Amino acid sequence: MKNEDGTTSRRGFLQHAALLSGAAAFGDTHNLFAGFSALVQDPPSCPAPPVGGTAFVPGSDTRPIVQRKSLSSLSASEVTRLRDAYAALRALPASDKRTWVLQADLHALYCDSCTNWSKEIHGSWNFFPWHRAYLYYYERILGSLVGDIDHFRMPYWDWTTTRTLPSQYSSPAASSNSLWNGNRDSGMAGGGNLPSTDGTAARIATLNAIQDFATFGGDAFSGGAPEDDPHGIIHMDVGRATSPYHDMGNLGYAARDPLFFTHHCNLDKVWSNWNGLASGGGLPPDAYKNPTASGFLNARWSFYDENQHLVSISAADVLDHSNQLRYTYNFRFRLPDFRIYIWECRLICCRPGPDPAPFIQIADPLRQRILRASRAQSPVLLVLRGVQIPRDAAGNFDILATSGDRKLHVGSIGVIEHSAGHNRERRPATLTLDITSAVESLLSKENPATLHVVPRNRNQSRSFVLSAKSAQIRTQEKRR
Ligand code: C2O
Repeated sequence: MKNEDGTTSRRGFLQHAALLSGAAAFGDTHNLFAGFSALVQDPPSCPAPPVGGTAFVPGSDTRPIVQRKSLSSLSASEVTRLRDAYAALRALPASDKRTWVLQADLHALYCDSCTNWSKEIHGSWNFFPWHRAYLYYYERILGSLVGDIDHFRMPYWDWTTTRTLPSQYSSPAASSNSLWNGNRDSGMAGGGNLPSTDGTAARIATLNAIQDFATFGGDAFSGGAPEDDPHGIIHMDVGRATSPYHDMGNLGYAARDPLFFTHHCNLDKVWSNWNGLASGGGLPPDAYKNPTASGFLNARWSFYDENQHLVSISAADVLDHSNQLRYTYNFRFRLPDFRIYIWECRLICCRPGPDPAPFIQIADPLRQRILRASRAQSPVLLVLRGVQIPRDAAGNFDILATSGDRKLHVGSIGVIEHSAGHNRERRPATLTLDITSAVESLLSKENPATLHVVPRNRNQSRSFVLSAKSAQIRTQEKRR
């Protein structure tokens, strides 16, 4: 795997990946999996991701436009077909470019588990389009393996309503079920619920109150609000509870769990629905629209298609998923009739004391205006940009507005683990916190509440002090 100069060769990597999946295809029993789990747990080597390949031509996909469905509405025969597709994927011969492990490692190559920092597709505006492109080719591969590329579409796990692991993926809990994976949180795998703060409809409503793409989907240098919550949060809830959080909680391994795809399909739907809100009336011109900067549109990535051909696709190619990628989602959101006001403030660090923590500083007239809005029962959001999450932090964290003994949950951050040895600096994050319930104490003039980042599993992660390059409070006021 290693070249003489110590770098890792791509060929070696591919053979390694192929070997693993070949072994899996042999017996496909739980024991066999356990037998080489030591190998599977190694961080994948990190050669550069593939480049080049036949470029996607818009308009060339002429299959019917088919709806991607919620897992909870799949028929028995659709579940069988889904299982057959994953079983076939897992059983592909070692030399095949479509294998389960190779596909999973493609994800790892494009992320900070690897050393290809310039190719990192998390923590920036590449996050949504890259995962959409990845799912597109993965979906084509699954569809072709069950002989129905025209109609097979990926299902989504709507965690706002299905609060446990989706049953199709968790039972039977055996390798006879191609959607099952042994590397999951034991509580969730045993039928447990997601924590009540995670992946909620309220969180989606908060995200839909963001109108600018930079906050929703990130920019060239930082990630958007959904990336940590709910994306990272659900990853960490599903992965094992302790470091290295296999599989879903570790960027190098997450895509080895079939749940990865149904989770990301739901996130893709969140993005699609957010774009759909652009049709609401009376909005600012760029509300709910994707960036038009060439740096966003021209990003291009390579994948393997259902014929094992190297192909490439750009962010611009995936924006109109119905017409270009031939799938659609049921779209039901209605925009409430509100107008959003943005107030600049600052996050000041730190109030001295045993547990120093930052607080919000805001000019007095703005404070009055915001308090008035909050008393009118309208949601109040705090948007923090340029939040630097320490490179060694991993796990789920809660953000608590604390004033004396009173602690109010205002948000969460889900930080996915890197593979061992690849803990590069993380790109700055954007946090969008719903501070409605805590606004009086956070904006108190005399004694403002402080914001604490509290790791959920105190043995595993350390706390860190929240800091932000800029801070805004956003209020929503009913249009008159
Ligand atoms: Cu590329 Cu959910 O991570």
